[in-house]
Amino acid sequence: MTNHSKCLRWGTASCPHVVRAPTVISMVGLPARGKTYIAKKLTRYLNWIGVTTKAFNVGEYRRAATDSYKNHNFFRADNKEAQELRTRVALMAVDDACKFLSTGGEVAVIDATNTTMDRRRLLVDICTVKYQFKLFFVESICDDPNIIQGNILASILSEVKVCSPDYVGQDKNEAVKDFLQRIEHYRQTYEPMGSPAERDMSYIQIFNQGERFIVNKLAGHLQSRVVYYLMNIHVLPRTIYLTRHGESKMNQDGRIGGDSDLSERGWQYAEALGKFVEEENIQELKVWTSELKRTIQTARYISAPKEHWKALNEIDAGVCEGMTYEEIQEKYPEEFALRDQDKFHYRYPSGESYQDLVARLEPVILELERQENVMVICHQAVARCLLAYFQDKSAADLPYLKVPLHTVIKLTPVAYGCRVEFLALNIPAVNTHREKPEEQIVKRELYREFHDCSLKKWQLTYSTKPSKASCGLPGLPPR
Ligand code: F6P
Repeated sequence: MTNHSKCLRWGTASCPHVVRAPTVISMVGLPARGKTYIAKKLTRYLNWIGVTTKAFNVGEYRRAATDSYKNHNFFRADNKEAQELRTRVALMAVDDACKFLSTGGEVAVIDATNTTMDRRRLLVDICTVKYQFKLFFVESICDDPNIIQGNILASILSEVKVCSPDYVGQDKNEAVKDFLQRIEHYRQTYEPMGSPAERDMSYIQIFNQGERFIVNKLAGHLQSRVVYYLMNIHVLPRTIYLTRHGESKMNQDGRIGGDSDLSERGWQYAEALGKFVEEENIQELKVWTSELKRTIQTARYISAPKEHWKALNEIDAGVCEGMTYEEIQEKYPEEFALRDQDKFHYRYPSGESYQDLVARLEPVILELERQENVMVICHQAVARCLLAYFQDKSAADLPYLKVPLHTVIKLTPVAYGCRVEFLALNIPAVNTHREKPEEQIVKRELYREFHDCSLKKWQLTYSTKPSKASCGLPGLPPR
């Protein structure tokens, strides 16, 4: 029995029998159907939930392999030379994707059109028959002219004014005309999924960016999560506002966790936040807080519907709750050092890690994706996790993201990402950010260098040894 027929007998064509096999997710669809948007967003989400994922954009491989793009004729079905090159670069991308999955990657997203059955069969042969990976197709189908027009403009001229590499320096109208012709070339050979020949494949078809879905032969937990995610996202314009609670009494004392009230300056922030929301004039705003007093108090002056989520509560510091960092270092020196070594995975005894927090926050992210304008009032560690999702930050960087008190972070979706603005409301507060240990060391060194230098100058100027007291290093960051 060949590998291929084995595969067909034991499961579906895109589902080998190994349950935890790596997965190739392959986009399908004509140009301007939002494939890159989906591929990027899905990659960001999967990485955030801890699934090592990478997107492989075949357009980028094509641009690396050929001279600059001339015009739509390149994509004609009868352009044999270009066809060959297109197949070659597609195979290069698939090859790299398979290498990635063979060396620790868990999901590879192939961002390409894959509009013919032949091309998809080739993917089945390589990914599932040869490599025994799972293969899941995500097809985006749009017949709404407004959506298509919007996607064309987003592809050619993104909101951040970065032109598509194929059209750099070209007149916008000419570029749109060429792009439309390119779509027509693809349409001539386009075979949407769902024909009887492809009934054994695993796929989701998304119609008009989420108006309707068809899901076929899901194979496993990961594909179910991907489908659930894709069914919850939307592309409507909206803004998410993220802020920590106002300064609390425990913040003032440098103590972590707990459930203390706002300080006087914290209350000032609550008032300023109410005014900020009023001035922003946000349509149908919803406010989400944690269940802790300091976030509920911070929302006091906002007139909008409020909901309190336990999932938004601050990281549980377990046996260290209510202590200062110095007290933790003194009482639990080993724990303190372990946390500095790998802050994302470190779990407080009887408490949580940042990794636990991301898992706890996944339903919040899914619900945020479903909503329109929302203000989330939460805590330092929670805000870092949420911000990392929107900013595509790695697990290593996440626990060190700077989320100062008394600052609103405004998140606005743009083209393929998210614009992030930090708006400080100018109410003083303590700084609760504890830097990465290496950064503390670098700062200590810089300080020392600067200080030594000043000492030398001083010694040269006065030609006397400074007293011991003047050699101290005041304000040196703690070790
Ligand atoms: O200090 C404020 C606080 O919200 C604590 O309650 C929490 O333990 C801490 O920040 C999280 O920050 P880090 O992970 O840097 O200790």
